[in-house]
Amino acid sequence: MRILKCRICGKNQFIDLFSLGKQPPANNFLSSTEQEVEFYPLDVRMCDHCKLVQLSDRILAEKLFSNYNYIPSVSKNLDFHFQLLAKQIWKRYKLKSDDLIVDIGSNDGLLLGHFRSLNAQILGIEPASNIAGLAKERGIPTINSFFNATLAKQLIKTYGKAKIITATNVLAHVHNIKDFINGVEIFLDEDGVFIAEFPYLADLIQKNEFDTIYHEHLSYFSLKPLVYLFSNPGLNLFDVETTSVHGGSIVIYASKKEKQVGISLKNLLAREEEFKLHDKSTYSDFFKRISSLASKLREHICAQKSMGRKIIGIGAAAKGTILLNFTGLDSTYIEYVVDNTPYKQGKFIPGVNIQIFPEGKMYTDKPDIALILAWNHQEEIISKHSQLLKDDRKFIIPIPNLKIIS
Ligand code: TMP
Repeated sequence: MRILKCRICGKNQFIDLFSLGKQPPANNFLSSTEQEVEFYPLDVRMCDHCKLVQLSDRILAEKLFSNYNYIPSVSKNLDFHFQLLAKQIWKRYKLKSDDLIVDIGSNDGLLLGHFRSLNAQILGIEPASNIAGLAKERGIPTINSFFNATLAKQLIKTYGKAKIITATNVLAHVHNIKDFINGVEIFLDEDGVFIAEFPYLADLIQKNEFDTIYHEHLSYFSLKPLVYLFSNPGLNLFDVETTSVHGGSIVIYASKKEKQVGISLKNLLAREEEFKLHDKSTYSDFFKRISSLASKLREHICAQKSMGRKIIGIGAAAKGTILLNFTGLDSTYIEYVVDNTPYKQGKFIPGVNIQIFPEGKMYTDKPDIALILAWNHQEEIISKHSQLLKDDRKFIIPIPNLKIIS
């Protein structure tokens, strides 16, 4: 579905930046290789007015998120990250046990579980019914729905207003972002705070993270358009932090009360100008770099394969689907991919027909080369599987540049 107007400013003048061609929805793993694969354009453009970098087309959210494959709980590092975030928020806002904390896009309740350990009142909102079910099994109160202003109006009748509303890795997925923010404003207490974490555009560009561009991610946020987004509603953007999670993310803070704009926000806005983050040329340079990176990776894998090496992938992350499809590395080159998410095991990566197995398989098979597709978890993956590096075996990290670890 072509998007006609910018979701932040409503204007319809766009600057085309680059295209990754037609790609399959990255998390739609196949039950069999016979299943038909749908390909949709991944064209990236920037709003000429508010400068939001965004996809040109969208797939309906119901199709992408009603049944979902991704659970952050499979990563120890992410679990630790969310534990730290919960503790920081608890301390910074001097929260008490009767304060309500709402997490939008709460997945299996990983973040809320950490708030529960701090004795908070918690509520999750999660559109994927299979994942919301997991959260409920863990005793995390969860509403199985997409979040919007209408839902917020209903929820305050039962739960009252929230002191904290969090949304981690959610905002980039939301098409009607104004309605979403409006809902946050309705649900948030007068002295409450909205805290959202999501991948940062400057990291994506600087670190060649082209594979994080997929249909679920409709927006690629820099601060500039967010300042525009928060200039209208009753929520003020007052602080920002950077974090290394998911290849480089930012955490934004907004509230009704706090008007003072923090120095880190001003500094990051200035850095975006210095870096020319909203200039078309930055994106043509980026596209040249990633095209060359994709060719190098493909040539390297092809050469290794022709020497008879057994090559597998580690981590069937959504980004892996894009990396493999964009570089044209299919099951001819990559024998299989291992992943510790039970939902993904046995399925096939769309477009490249590579099957996903539990991590144990690589211990019996002992492949020569493992391409780490979930490169954002590389430290955790390498330390967990370092014994595989014996006997001249290698790991390859594809992003930001081809790196071979032996
Ligand atoms: P993400 O990059 O979107 O977080 O996805 C990471 C994927 O990698 C997810 O499917 C889980 C998988 N994974 C493993 O298979 N083993 C691991 O040790 C880690 C950390 C992740």
